[in-house]
Amino acid sequence: MAQMRLDKLLAQAAELPRSKARREILAGRVTVDGVVCRQPDQKVESDAALGLAGRPLCWQQQIYLMVDKPAGLLSASRDASCRTVVDLVRDQYPRRALFPAGRLDKDSTGFVLLTDDGPLAHALLSPKHHVEKVYRVTLDCPATEEMRRGFAQGVTLVDGQRMLPAGLEIDSEDPAGVTVTLHQGVYHQIKRMFGVYGAGVVTLRRVAIGGVALDPTLGPGGSRPLTAAELARLRGVLGELGEPADFARQDG
Ligand code: URA
Repeated sequence: MAQMRLDKLLAQAAELPRSKARREILAGRVTVDGVVCRQPDQKVESDAALGLAGRPLCWQQQIYLMVDKPAGLLSASRDASCRTVVDLVRDQYPRRALFPAGRLDKDSTGFVLLTDDGPLAHALLSPKHHVEKVYRVTLDCPATEEMRRGFAQGVTLVDGQRMLPAGLEIDSEDPAGVTVTLHQGVYHQIKRMFGVYGAGVVTLRRVAIGGVALDPTLGPGGSRPLTAAELARLRGVLGELGEPADFARQDG
């Protein structure tokens, strides 16, 4: 692994100007592998674990952020008239071309993955891969066994499109509350699937993508980088689904 000056590595990892990075180091606010280092020109391994003001930092070639999307935001990079999920983090990553890897409706909430890794996003969204996504949904009526069986077989939407089999778990305490597991992403899919049974969706929240669960501590509008284990999990899912070796790399 190559070595780099600490001030240069910190500037990259924290997206700081080099002068500010140097000041943080001189002030004793920077750790390298857990040890305070006050020398800006110190050579450190470029994969060293850096900390700034008590918080871990991690320089990545690409960014992978777990965001808890609040209702009312668009799943888009930019929009002229409406706030987007990327607007939530734009100040933290001003030089990154982030975009959502998959959409939630404006009124839906929960897990959106923001990244600048086009190939990984493409693979996650590819209809070939059927990456699992889990949603907590509240209906305007109790869910039924007929719906559960229909979801398991594959619902045919009113326009004739046949959906892939989907999971539907009905809450025993409150049958209007359900957990839906999808392996594809069709526009308004869950709303349209319940619509076939005359049921309306009141709230819809995505709680997991590819086996990675939304961090319940984030709260609406909160975000954090995926951990190395979460990223490895997503890449692992794509690997199991037959992605090229490129997606099994561990450089994040
Ligand atoms: N299905 C929907 O109907 N809406 C979403 O936002 C996601 C899945």
